[in-house]
Amino acid sequence: MGSSPARTPPGETACPRPSGHYFGVVKLLFIADIVGQPGRRAVKELVPQLRQAHAVNLVVANGENSAGGSGITVNTAEEIFAAGVDIITSGDHLWDQKEVMGLLEGERRFVRPLNYPPGTPGQGSTIFQAQGLPPVAILNLQGRTFMPTLENPFHAALAEVERLRRTTNVIFIDFHAEATSEKVALARMLDGRVSAVVGTHTHVQTADEQIFPGGTAFLCDAGFTGPHESVIGREIEPIVRRFMTNMPQKFEVAKGRVLLQGAVVEINEQTGRATGIQRVSQAL
Ligand SMILES: [Fe+2]
Ligand SMILES: [Fe+2]
Repeated sequence: MGSSPARTPPGETACPRPSGHYFGVVKLLFIADIVGQPGRRAVKELVPQLRQAHAVNLVVANGENSAGGSGITVNTAEEIFAAGVDIITSGDHLWDQKEVMGLLEGERRFVRPLNYPPGTPGQGSTIFQAQGLPPVAILNLQGRTFMPTLENPFHAALAEVERLRRTTNVIFIDFHAEATSEKVALARMLDGRVSAVVGTHTHVQTADEQIFPGGTAFLCDAGFTGPHESVIGREIEPIVRRFMTNMPQKFEVAKGRVLLQGAVVEINEQTGRATGIQRVSQAL
C-alpha cells in the first residue's frame, strides 16, 4: 500500500505540508459532500482562504459525490487533495465509479465507511500525522436507517474508537447517515470518547451544532459543497418530474449558487475534548 512503509506506518498518513498555527488546539475543517465539478471548484477556490481565515491544521472532506455527482475516481480525489484537503471520507455512493478500487487499494488518505463486512477493500479509519500536531484519527461510519444494511455502526464504532484511543484521543467521525435520530444516538453514545461526530449524506445542513457534556462536538448534518440552486445538488426539474410521475429521469448536477458547506471544529490536544464547533456555509 504505502510506498515508504519505513516512514509511514500502515494505517497512518504522512502530511505533505506544514501544519500551520498550532497552540495545543487542533483546528479541523470538515467539508460536507463535494458534488461534481461545481463542488470541486468551490474546494479549489475556497479551501486556501478558509485554511488561513480559521488557522486550520487539517482538512477532511467527504468525496462520495465528487465525480459527476456519483462516486469518486482517482483523478477527482487527486484534484481534491491538490486543493488542500488532507483526508477524504465517503459513504453510500462509494461504489458508483469502478475507479474507486484504485483508492480503496492504494490510497492511505482515503477512508470508506468502517462497517462494511470483513474482507471489503479499503480502510474505515486512518491516523493523520503532521509535524507539530498530535496524531488525529479520522473515522468514517455509515448509518442503517433508510439506507443499505451494513454491519451495526454502533458496535463497530465502539470497538474502533477503543482501538484508536490507544494512539490518540483526538478523533473525528464522519457519520454518513439519513436518520437524525441515528446520528444523535451514535454521537451521544460516543460523548466523551471522541472529539467530534459530524453527519453527512442528507445534503441539508442542520443548525444544531453543540458540544455535549462529555466534550464531543456534534452537528447532525454538515450539508453539501456544490450548487444549491438545486434539489440536493441536482437539477430541479427532473427530480420534481420523478416525484410526480415515478418514471426514471437523468439527474444532472446543477450549476447555480455554489456553496462550500461544513464545519470547523476546535479540539484540545491534551484531553481530546472539543472546545468549539462552527458551521461553515460560504459562497463561491
Ligand atoms: Fe450519501
Ligand atoms: Fe452525498
